Amino acid sequence: MLSARAIYHEIRDHDATYRLFCSVAAKGEAQGGWENARIAERIEDPVLRPKVARHGADEEKHGRLFEALLRRRGLDACDVPFEVDYTLRLERAGIGLAHERLGEDAPLSDEEILRYLVHSRVTEQRAHEEVEEQRAIFADDPELGRAIRMIADDERNHLSFTHEELARFAARGYADRIDEMAREYALVEIATYRDVSLGVMARMAEALGWSRPKRWLLAVGIHAIYVWERLWAWRRLTSIEPPERPGALAA
Ligand SMILES: [Fe+2]
Ligand SMILES: [Fe+2]
Repeated sequence: MLSARAIYHEIRDHDATYRLFCSVAAKGEAQGGWENARIAERIEDPVLRPKVARHGADEEKHGRLFEALLRRRGLDACDVPFEVDYTLRLERAGIGLAHERLGEDAPLSDEEILRYLVHSRVTEQRAHEEVEEQRAIFADDPELGRAIRMIADDERNHLSFTHEELARFAARGYADRIDEMAREYALVEIATYRDVSLGVMARMAEALGWSRPKRWLLAVGIHAIYVWERLWAWRRLTSIEPPERPGALAA
């Protein structure tokens, strides 16, 4: 069986793969939490600042949820190698704000806030789609299902927030800059997502002893998704639409 459902269930049912899945997720979420907290401290706009802080607090909570899932299985987090570290790979590719910048105290310029918001627009779309798929697949799992439902609800808020804030910047005359940046970020993201997916798949295949034909088919599937996204579907990561939940992260 090669459905997403069958693969996710296989990953959940084996300690080694469950450990990698939760560790990768915990690291990405914690990283997002740390970044949002630093960014909030460097935003002067009193409307935007608390929303970014809330965004950070949510991501940190997601990190803790995945750590708790590991503990409940008697596992601890494993190292997340660079090949499968989505967040770090995006940063190295020049997407969003660099860590060095977040170590400096100077307030963020509009251009830097846009880098943050466009990075969030693209990555929150991905997070939202992935977690909605997991929500459906693990609906009847008492522990994982509950955690994923909480996270899925937050990611909807985050995505809505990025639409709303980018629309505000667009109305202030930044629409062309946002379009240009969003296209650049989306094209880097889809290639990064493909590479991370191949890396995760190779590790899961190793741990679960998947056959060569099964590995080959999954790799073909990952490349096919990339082609579809590169030709057309990258646009869904960049459009600015009315927010699904206006004021989602407002205090
Ligand atoms: Fe998250
Ligand atoms: Fe998020």
